[in-house]
Amino acid sequence: MSLHILVTGGAGYIGSHVCVALLEGGYQVTVIDNFSNSHPEALERVAKLGGGAVTLIEADLADEGSIDFIRQQVAERPVHGAIHLAGLKAVGESVAKPALYYHTNINATLNLIEIMGAVGSNTIVFSSSATVYGEGNKNPLTEAAVSYAPTNPYGRTKYYNENILRDLYISNNDWRIANLRYFNPVGAHPSGLIGEDPQGTPNNLFPYIAQVAVGRREKLSVFGGDYPTRDGSGVRDYIHVQDLASGHVAALQFLHNQQEGCTADVNLGTGKGVSVFEAISAFERVSSRAIPFEVTARRPGDLAEVYADVTLARQLFDWEAKYDLEQMCADHWRWQMQNPSGYNG
Ligand code: WQD
Repeated sequence: MSLHILVTGGAGYIGSHVCVALLEGGYQVTVIDNFSNSHPEALERVAKLGGGAVTLIEADLADEGSIDFIRQQVAERPVHGAIHLAGLKAVGESVAKPALYYHTNINATLNLIEIMGAVGSNTIVFSSSATVYGEGNKNPLTEAAVSYAPTNPYGRTKYYNENILRDLYISNNDWRIANLRYFNPVGAHPSGLIGEDPQGTPNNLFPYIAQVAVGRREKLSVFGGDYPTRDGSGVRDYIHVQDLASGHVAALQFLHNQQEGCTADVNLGTGKGVSVFEAISAFERVSSRAIPFEVTARRPGDLAEVYADVTLARQLFDWEAKYDLEQMCADHWRWQMQNPSGYNG
């Protein structure tokens, strides 16, 4: 019998790649999504790529009024675990609308816990973020951080959700919990069929570069050229979304293989830092397009350098990132070229 996994936010950028990886791994998949920042077309393409159907529960996991409906739907199938990605994720918007972020991201987690408890399933892989480390930690960032100081409401919702899940395990040691701390997810499925479809002006570096390369935007602003880094621009640990997806499947296998309940906080990154200028050059090489840019002021809240210590993921999950920067750019570019207006194009 194949295992059945609930994927909350399964139609989104990371969720869609996770669903394909699960289908390829022989899992059955049910997605909960309300398409607030995603497109139903993504799930059609997931089914095509994964060679299997995805069951959809179209509902808002954060909405108290939807819980009975979702619980009924989930109770109709045996679920062996959940990968929880549903939530809001724009840092700037979270500063402007903190209550919306706390309401949505925390309630989605609380409601998922209630539903999983009600159907007797105790395995949750949570989509956390390196943003939980915030300021004051040394690179490479290890999971045993000296301080947790996320710098914005979005990051704090990730931090609080991690703690809620850890407290759940403390209350009942049967729970199997993995908090996965993503570094900077980029790229797309190598088919070019699924990828990131940002609404409005992209906040993140790769989608912005891709839209400049395709001619949708005039030039990139490089936020700060005077950081104490090797070339003055910000350094991040970019990870191919395909690697991230396989990391979720590895985390799930790890949790299912444990004799007892457990909780683990694990970085998912490559362990390598890449500067903004290096990312621009790699994208130019791969796309054979010029990326005009201008160095502007630093973006408030940005750190100079962030990259992961990836030892723990290797030890616990027997997993490591395989894709390099060239492949991240090539796949991101293919998706952009094939879908210049995202899923609406
Ligand atoms: C990367 C680098 C920028 C845009 C954020 C969130 C994090 C996570 C991912 C999402 C930095 C520079 C960027 C641009 C630029 N969460 N940059 N010009 O800030 O590391 O992480 O996104 O769900 O929680 O904080 O990623 O891609 O925005 O920036 O120069 O137009 O690129 O200053 O050095 P970041 P990013």
